[in-house]
Amino acid sequence: MRKQIAAANWKMNLSQNEAETLLDQLLATEHSLSANQEAIFAVPAIYIPLATQKLVGKTNVYVAAQNCHQKDNGAYTGEISASMFASVGVKHIVLGHSERREYFAESDALLAEKVNAVLAIASTPIFCCGEPLAIREAGTQNTFVEAQLKNSLFHLTAEQITKVVIAYEPIWAIGTGKTASSEQAQEIHAYIRSVFASQYGQSIANQISILYGGSVKAANAKEIFSQPDVDGGLVGGASLVATEFAAIINALK
Ligand code: 13P
Repeated sequence: MRKQIAAANWKMNLSQNEAETLLDQLLATEHSLSANQEAIFAVPAIYIPLATQKLVGKTNVYVAAQNCHQKDNGAYTGEISASMFASVGVKHIVLGHSERREYFAESDALLAEKVNAVLAIASTPIFCCGEPLAIREAGTQNTFVEAQLKNSLFHLTAEQITKVVIAYEPIWAIGTGKTASSEQAQEIHAYIRSVFASQYGQSIANQISILYGGSVKAANAKEIFSQPDVDGGLVGGASLVATEFAAIINALK
């Protein structure tokens, strides 16, 4: 069975004290992970050492970065490379979040470079895709998302693509309280899997975890995650509340 993943994306939130309290509360909350399940915490880069230290010894629990630079090192003031994250034990990096695409003008081509950088050091890209509201209203979300995947990922080999985790996050559902229905999520997740199947074959496509993101919370996680092509979630707001995120972990298949 492919991996089922509950990934927290804290975005640019919390002070260090608040981050520590949240992790402590979460560790004190009842949640369990079976062998095929993972919990991942994409925290602000500055809290990575704190989170790593808090989560030490936990099985199937990982600390992730929210972004990285495409180059390995050099004169790129303020940036952090994938290999720097790996050197402090971080092996998962979120790439291409819609907020980065929108506010930092990240293009499909740039994201292809970032994906390469993350795979080059044997880390896992959590690659985000998803359409804005106007595209959903026009009914062209499948072709929109397909282009994002093709442009940034289709240069990869079959072996490489199985190392990538996909996060489908419709922009109209992010931070809006407006979740895609479980039918809408299943429909496009199945489509995304079919896109990979046509390029890499069905058995490779079946190995790729596809997470849903956009207003996932304790109250809707079970219903969304129960869909056959939904392999967990990438969670923003609700991941900042310990009881919410613990319940989301417990909602994994
Ligand atoms: P919300 O869960 O706050 O809608 O955010 C989703 C998201 O962007 C996760 O990356």
